[in-house]
Amino acid sequence: MRELDAAQQAAKAGGEVLARYFGQGVKMRTKQDCDFVSDADIESERAIIEVIRSAFPDHAILGEEGQAADVDTSSEFLWVIDPLDGTTNFAHDIPHFAVSIGFYWKSQPVLGVIFNPIRRDWFHAARDEGAFANGEKVTVADDSSLSESLVGVGFYYDRGAMMEATLASIRDLFQQKIHGIRRFGTASLDLCQVGCGQFGAFFEYELSPWDFAAGRLFVEEAGGRVTNCRGDDLPLAKSSVLASNGKLHDSVLEIVSGNLPDQDWD
Ligand code: IPD
Ligand code: CA
Ligand code: CA
Repeated sequence: MRELDAAQQAAKAGGEVLARYFGQGVKMRTKQDCDFVSDADIESERAIIEVIRSAFPDHAILGEEGQAADVDTSSEFLWVIDPLDGTTNFAHDIPHFAVSIGFYWKSQPVLGVIFNPIRRDWFHAARDEGAFANGEKVTVADDSSLSESLVGVGFYYDRGAMMEATLASIRDLFQQKIHGIRRFGTASLDLCQVGCGQFGAFFEYELSPWDFAAGRLFVEEAGGRVTNCRGDDLPLAKSSVLASNGKLHDSVLEIVSGNLPDQDWD
């Protein structure tokens, strides 16, 4: 598949940029409270776009740092990229971050590639072909009860109602006797951990399309389920995200939807 090849080449190019900057004390700038960007994000995005553009000059590209201008998200062929997912880890010299590249055809995800360039971990999924970690096919966990599972969570940069809702859901999950909560700080890799069967479920109350475009397909192709925190399909826009092995979905959904503070929030 030409798109898979391009996505892997692009992830490699972006990853090389990140590996070069990592641990070098790169200067972080603030986009909004606690939301950082650096030269590494920008240069990685540029390298990724260059590879995709040279293979598919007519395709649309939606990148977090916005260097591919005039993006029409309803384009038939759409690439959705996060050039550095896990910027806060990167800024604190923690080698848990990734390049995330999703490819949509007619608004449906058909390909996802996620690459941690420090650990050299590769994850990819292709529609109807499965999910693979370093070339090995993976499947979600078999847990049928929350009391058997480990749950991943993400905190959006908000420190108000959304943070409170997240904490309330964590408390409710502990009351269901989950094995524990993990917050590793890279949404694309969190989703891979659901697909690989490490987390029974993962939720975050706000993510952007570039955070979940590739990872959602990875979970689905590994046999899991992904919705927003109200149980609806994910849009190609900011959204809450709940990913699970499928069996646990309704139990976690009851908790995370119950703590959503207002009707407009999805
Ligand atoms: C962030 C990470 C983090 C999640 C945030 C995201 P960024 O992406 O995925 O895990 O909790 O909501 O924004 O800013 O590092 O690309
Ligand atoms: Ca991100
Ligand atoms: Ca990012």
